[in-house]
Amino acid sequence: MTIAYADCAAMDSHDTLAHARGRFFLPDNVIYLDGNSLGALPRGALPHLVHVVDREWGDDLIRSWNKNDWIGMPARLGARLAPLIGAAPDEVIVADSTSVNLFKLAAAAVRFRSPRRVILTEHSNFPTDLYVLQGLEEMLDGAVTLHMVAREELEKSLNDDVALLALTHGDFRTGEIHDMRRLTEAAHAAGALALWDLSHSAGAMDILLDGDDVDLAIGCGYKYLNGGPGAPAFMFVARRHQAALRQPLSGWMGHAAPFDFADRYDPAGGMARMLCGTPPVLSMAALEEGLKTFDGIDMARVRQKSVALGELFLNLAETSCADSGFVIASPRDSHRRGSQISLRHPEGYAIMQALIEQGVIGDFRAPDILRFGFAPLYTRYVDVWNAVERLASVMAGEVWRQVRFHARAMVT
Ligand SMILES: Cc1ncc(COP(=O)(O)O)c(C=O)c1O
Repeated sequence: MTIAYADCAAMDSHDTLAHARGRFFLPDNVIYLDGNSLGALPRGALPHLVHVVDREWGDDLIRSWNKNDWIGMPARLGARLAPLIGAAPDEVIVADSTSVNLFKLAAAAVRFRSPRRVILTEHSNFPTDLYVLQGLEEMLDGAVTLHMVAREELEKSLNDDVALLALTHGDFRTGEIHDMRRLTEAAHAAGALALWDLSHSAGAMDILLDGDDVDLAIGCGYKYLNGGPGAPAFMFVARRHQAALRQPLSGWMGHAAPFDFADRYDPAGGMARMLCGTPPVLSMAALEEGLKTFDGIDMARVRQKSVALGELFLNLAETSCADSGFVIASPRDSHRRGSQISLRHPEGYAIMQALIEQGVIGDFRAPDILRFGFAPLYTRYVDVWNAVERLASVMAGEVWRQVRFHARAMVT
């Protein structure tokens, strides 16, 4: 069955999330399919940042830490984010980057599960996750070993020496999602904790951290959560573990009484002990507006629309780009897929550059993956239709062969 533009327009007119697109600034003539890398700009961000800079910083100066509750931002934003990932408000806090938060939580977990020595992960985990865990292994010099195995080997590699199973929920290359509940249960059966990196799923689907009995989680603020470039990241620790976990970056913001200026570290209660240094107020203010774009939004509906957008893209691409040499890298089964579709092609980089010039923004991951992300709050069905049509025309006209599309930029 061919799907016509008019069919997509009809789907948009029945879309109960359609109103959310108005919460974003999106440039004319651009189809943005890269919200999985950097979320679009919320309309509220600029006026809010102007207010925070002009009034709170400019007029209130240092009094803002109390008067405008700058000091409460990590916990306040955590509480706002919590329902999007199925957590309680006091189980989430916003701070630092995903990489740093992984270091803190993984170190805390291995200490908690000592004398178990193994951190288990998969080879295809996001590189920063692998690198941070390798750094921890090196620092602990033999006390901890990182086991990297293939995805299919994960469950059988869980044993009574594993302290922590550390995985990313949505694969950054293929969009494949793990069964978080099943793997968490398997980790628990082996006596290990489970830590999930939700960077590619938070804000794109309904996640049930408490419902799935997850121990620890981390994730980016700048992707589907729309927090802006380099936005602070989040951490989740299940309430049952909070008192027992001690993280090694014991900075003053994680102290029980930072303004007592005591000479001994005494960790704060709850999630505050996961903090390290002073919150980046301007970046936090932008993320707060990103999180507001989810006000009143049902995450189950977000997931339904994300699946529908992905299916539409695949169906259209399978018809219009059938002879273009693409291989679908994402699972065909939508239950095993996050909110992105990845296509492999040996000329993927140049094809993506040519497509971007035609106004369709996705991205490329070496060696050969074109990624198309669907942020359900602002992506329309007609956007998917237009994107595939332009992709088909780039392929049919071999536009990507032009030399200028082959020069690699630093960020792909
Ligand atoms: C799964 C995953 N984890 C972590 C990161 C990056 O973390 P950071 O914000 O520390 O650079 C990314 C970035 O794309 C990611 O995809």
